[in-house]
Amino acid sequence: MSLPKDYSLRPVQQSDLAQYVEVLSVLTTVGSVSESDFAKLVAHWEENPEIYYPMVVTNEKDVVVATGMLVVERKLIHGCGKVGHIEDIAVAETEQGKKVGQYLIDHLSLEAKARGCYKVILDCAERNVGFYEKCGYTRAGVQMSQRYD
Ligand code: ACO
Repeated sequence: MSLPKDYSLRPVQQSDLAQYVEVLSVLTTVGSVSESDFAKLVAHWEENPEIYYPMVVTNEKDVVVATGMLVVERKLIHGCGKVGHIEDIAVAETEQGKKVGQYLIDHLSLEAKARGCYKVILDCAERNVGFYEKCGYTRAGVQMSQRYD
């Protein structure tokens, strides 16, 4: 699996705010985030690289076209094992269907494996099940939640 010509994968940067928000808006409501709050958030991710692996795909002009994050959780079970969580996968509407999403999932999954995770999991809408199956994922469990917003 490879990216389209001249596209690349890199960590999120503080200067990505506007593009990062725009791409993520295909997934959910982002809300208003100031530059200073985003800078603090990116700094927090960078200070905790064992936990957060926030990545973007950029085009030939270094414009963000897709986002995705691996979060690594350290547990007691499975001999103090680690579980990878894949979060915030979004591909800009004009870039969908070019295998960018699949590239991201492959990369984040391999990263989870390389970091010693015994499994990697994610939550998704029913409409995306086929996409994740193409990426090698299988249905497991049921997501439940309580919301406080
Ligand atoms: N259902 C079934 N198959 C799909 C779907 C879908 N919703 N989307 C893509 N596919 C298939 C493609 O047809 C392709 O199949 P092929 O190999 O037979 O040609 C394969 O999956 C790979 O597709 P990509 O081109 O890599 O998909 P894309 O780059 O468009 O990314 C994604 C897919 C991430 C779902 C994108 O459409 C998107 O950003 N959607 C809106 C935001 C969203 O729902 N994100 C997922 C949130 S879940 C989470 O964050 C853990």
